[in-house]
Amino acid sequence: MSDLGFIHRFVPGQSPRTLLLLHGTGGNEDDLLEIGHAIDPAAALLSPRGKILENGAPRFFRRLAEGVFDEADVVYRAKELSAFINGAIRSYDIDAAKLVAVGYSNGANIAAAMLMLGVSQFSRAILFRPMVPLSNVHRMPDLRSVKVELLAGKIDPIATPAIVGTLTGLLREAGAEVEVQIQPSGHELTSQDIVAAREWLRNSGS
Ligand code: MLT
Repeated sequence: MSDLGFIHRFVPGQSPRTLLLLHGTGGNEDDLLEIGHAIDPAAALLSPRGKILENGAPRFFRRLAEGVFDEADVVYRAKELSAFINGAIRSYDIDAAKLVAVGYSNGANIAAAMLMLGVSQFSRAILFRPMVPLSNVHRMPDLRSVKVELLAGKIDPIATPAIVGTLTGLLREAGAEVEVQIQPSGHELTSQDIVAAREWLRNSGS
């Protein structure tokens, strides 16, 4: 099968749910497979590799400096990823109504951008250590059917709790149901994040 425009992995599951796994800077399509499996052992996994290379480290969009994003590229890449997901839905017979995004750091940011631009096929998202990927969206889409869990780190110097708070406000204003958890950690993922994600997904009605 072609790579549908992105190097990726698809791992079939035993339930109609598919987790869309979006890695952090320097990760790849293998990075979050274990975490996806821990969050839902029965779900299928769709895991693309970001196409931008920053000194050899894969990412989902360009940045100008740490925490300073090339927002034109964020928009372009969010739409490009959305086109890949449409192709994957067709190729792998994925039930889009049961698609849940699981993103970490840069991967959480591209998922948040897709939500803010109204180009996400998923209506559930678990975002670990997200930031605000776009500063200037004139009209947010109607996100009333969307449920999001945001997992911040209390001492995260990159995706600070204040930045996660700003993203929370933007998504809630657009109608999304947002749950926020602040973990006693930094930017790194912890086992508590996985437990929290699993619980949230179990209760999210998807
Ligand atoms: C980003 O560039 O998306 C954020 O700074 C998170 C990161 O990748 O370090």
